[in-house]
Amino acid sequence: MSPLRQLINFIARPYDFLDDCARSYGDIFTMKLMGFPHWVMLSDPQAIGEIFATDAKQFDAGKSNEYLKPVTGNHSLLLLDGERHKRERKMLMPAFHREKVKSYGEIICQVTEQLASTWQPQQPFLASKAMQEITLEVILHTVFGLSKGERYQEIKPLLANLWDLTGSPLRASLVYFPVLQQDWGAWSPWGKFVHQRQQVYDLLQAEIDQRRSQPEIKGNDVLSLMLLARDEDGQTMTDIELQDELITMLLAGYETTATALTWALYWIHKLPAVKEKLLQELDGQENDSEPLAIAGLPYLTAVCHETLRIYPLVPIPTPRTSRISVEIARQQFPPETTLVPCIYLVHHREDIYPEAKQFKPERFLERQFSPAEFMPFGGGNRRCLGYALAMLEMKLVLATIMSKYELTLASKKPEKPSRRGVTMAPDNGVKMIVTGERVREQKQTLLTVGKE
Ligand code: HEM
Repeated sequence: MSPLRQLINFIARPYDFLDDCARSYGDIFTMKLMGFPHWVMLSDPQAIGEIFATDAKQFDAGKSNEYLKPVTGNHSLLLLDGERHKRERKMLMPAFHREKVKSYGEIICQVTEQLASTWQPQQPFLASKAMQEITLEVILHTVFGLSKGERYQEIKPLLANLWDLTGSPLRASLVYFPVLQQDWGAWSPWGKFVHQRQQVYDLLQAEIDQRRSQPEIKGNDVLSLMLLARDEDGQTMTDIELQDELITMLLAGYETTATALTWALYWIHKLPAVKEKLLQELDGQENDSEPLAIAGLPYLTAVCHETLRIYPLVPIPTPRTSRISVEIARQQFPPETTLVPCIYLVHHREDIYPEAKQFKPERFLERQFSPAEFMPFGGGNRRCLGYALAMLEMKLVLATIMSKYELTLASKKPEKPSRRGVTMAPDNGVKMIVTGERVREQKQTLLTVGKE
């Protein structure tokens, strides 16, 4: 197949295309997408485990993300390699540490309750849009530290629009094809993007200036911790590093988590047995259960994992290019080979996940999967920085919605995965209807909505 046809297939129907390739060529095969280097795709967990365990110095990954530079800026973690990547990751890590992330639980529940209370009974709404509203608000609170005031009011629509420019398949091509990145003034798509991005950067700069001018930096958000972070030489992050990382987190964490939640709502309401089991588990909780107790529920966790397994938000993680000759799965790969551990293909291996095309949360209760068998957040030294936040958010948003509302799918038509920017989303956005407030099965307590 020509590189152009491979590119079109990979953009338009990545899952089916990857299935076709694996059927024809097995666990390791090479792809050539127009404009990209050859990719060696791997779906054998043994080989993938070796890649994740290989010394980070042997691979470059950031340069595979170069095409994101116009969106994230030069200092994004996604683009860095080697010592710079290590330094930056070390400085950002404390803000995303599992223990720290736990403290965001209350905010996630509050934001969900508040936004869900605006849904009109019996009026269809798009779950994709509703989940985007929730995850944007969560990122604004937890990462940017903004929840009220003039700056919050200004930046919120800008951030939502900024991402929307790359959100549809058509607009996504702006990111993938640099030739389309022409600034012909505010009316041209790219010109509009550049203008809006500058407005966001100006507002972020004002926020950073204000925080730095305070005698003490305090606040339970990622930006506060980034402002306090020091590298081994005692240096803090520069303003431009802070801005680029904030935009990176928006890019990496907003649409992904919203799409994961949309898929989860779809599966739960498409499969009555899954919904029933989940509600049984949630109903077994006390009314005032701590967010952390909810996040520990096994079936809820299994539903979230199965959602991320069956249609991983991104079919592949960041491709890794060898700096030197490396041996993986008893094969020698010369320098400059780009290796791609394929998330989608691993998640669809029948020997690991029998009936892999079926949504079956129970599989996650029956056995444990290794980090190279279940890898929706990638792995090794590039593993998703926000995975603990994303998992907590998925569980708490779902638990809050499912405990309080009776929802149903507005259409019986199955949703198919379709590309939205970098993520694979349900093609029709999952139209749903609130049919009423929920009455708990066992305790017969009418839960109040949005009146904490
Ligand atoms: C369900 C939601 C999410 C999924 C499925 C997801 C998935 C991924 C994947 C597959 C990677 C590439 C890992 C690799 O190459 O091995 C990644 C990287 C990253 N993610 Fe996430 N992500 C999610 C949410 C988030 C959130 C909420 C944030 C932050 C607020 C975030 C921040 C990042 C960052 C900064 C990186 C780059 C890490 C690096 O290159 O060192 N992600 N994510």
